[in-house]
Amino acid sequence: MLWKDSLREMKPYKPGKSIKEVLNQYQLEKVVKLASNENPYGPAPSAKKLLDEGTIEIEMYPDGNASSLRKKIARKLNVNEDSLLFGGGSDEIIVMISRALLDSGKNTIMATPTFPQYAHNAKIDGAEIREVALVDGHHNLDGFLNVIDKDTSVIWLCSPNNPTGNLISSEALTTFLTKVPDNILVVLDEAYFEYITDPSYTNTIHLLKEYPNLIVLRTFSKAYGLAAFRIGYAIGNPEVISNLNKVRSPFNVTSAGQVLAEAALDDDEFIKECSLLNHEEMQRFIQYANANKLHIYDSEANFVLIEVPGNGDLASEKLLQQGFIVRSGEALGTPGYIRVTIGSENQNNGFFAAFDSLLADAQLLK
Ligand SMILES: Cc1ncc(COP(=O)(O)O)c(C=O)c1O
Repeated sequence: MLWKDSLREMKPYKPGKSIKEVLNQYQLEKVVKLASNENPYGPAPSAKKLLDEGTIEIEMYPDGNASSLRKKIARKLNVNEDSLLFGGGSDEIIVMISRALLDSGKNTIMATPTFPQYAHNAKIDGAEIREVALVDGHHNLDGFLNVIDKDTSVIWLCSPNNPTGNLISSEALTTFLTKVPDNILVVLDEAYFEYITDPSYTNTIHLLKEYPNLIVLRTFSKAYGLAAFRIGYAIGNPEVISNLNKVRSPFNVTSAGQVLAEAALDDDEFIKECSLLNHEEMQRFIQYANANKLHIYDSEANFVLIEVPGNGDLASEKLLQQGFIVRSGEALGTPGYIRVTIGSENQNNGFFAAFDSLLADAQLLK
């Protein structure tokens, strides 16, 4: 077959092990997944209640305009309805941006390591990828400015960054935006926005008026606990949104995703509580790392990137044997580390006990 040239070097996405696979493979009674940064406290209660009532219409196509959800988010964020674009997770919005703006002859700039879907889609669309190494987990935005040229089409910023968790400060972001030519789309992926506790971080939505080349991505997969329903959205300039809408498939967001997301938006208290608990549990990870002299990145998300004794692959395999699924840093571009979703207090107690035995094994090998 006449496959796109760009696919030649690519491999299909390799999903991590599911809870069920790990249970069977290691003959475990319980497995805790701390690998995909889902919400350990479950879905937002209003969404769960709606789901339990079983009233979601399933024989009809979804509303292709997501009108009701659109209204509610527009009101909540104080933006126009035509500033919003919905996707099957923010993953699909990344696909739409790439499809609409990237092809051979264009280039796109991103940090490394960062969320891999930016590079993955740019590769498929044949664009040149310009990666700028993080500095201590932070985006090097001056480095970004240095590699911009007339063919730069999209810049990807991930804040908090996956996998390090570091935030781009509001000041650095604004300075950067003033320097980027306005014909380049700057994508600010805020998948973990609801977890940010840094008081100096200002809400980025107000920047959209001043910088029409900025687009902000958010998702219901993380703090809202709706990952299974695949719903994310972008907020941007109506003209940008209108162009992206040209590549959107007509019924891309499911009816269930739309109504559950709409219900979940009423659960501000739940989101606040999850963010607070996440912050408290994060302090335990920091204390654990410090007590064991392991480096840990400054995270404003619901995961941490923490150093392990030896190699990330081996450490995650050993943790897996004890029932904890985490992501090896080797696969994320941060060898010698693992990325761990911050779980509930109970889950984290178990994780620290499993990590203790990892440290004890490492001690024995010395
Ligand atoms: C930084 C970042 N962006 C986007 C996504 C995609 O999220 P979703 O497609 O579930 O909205 C993720 C998921 O892990 C992520 O970490």
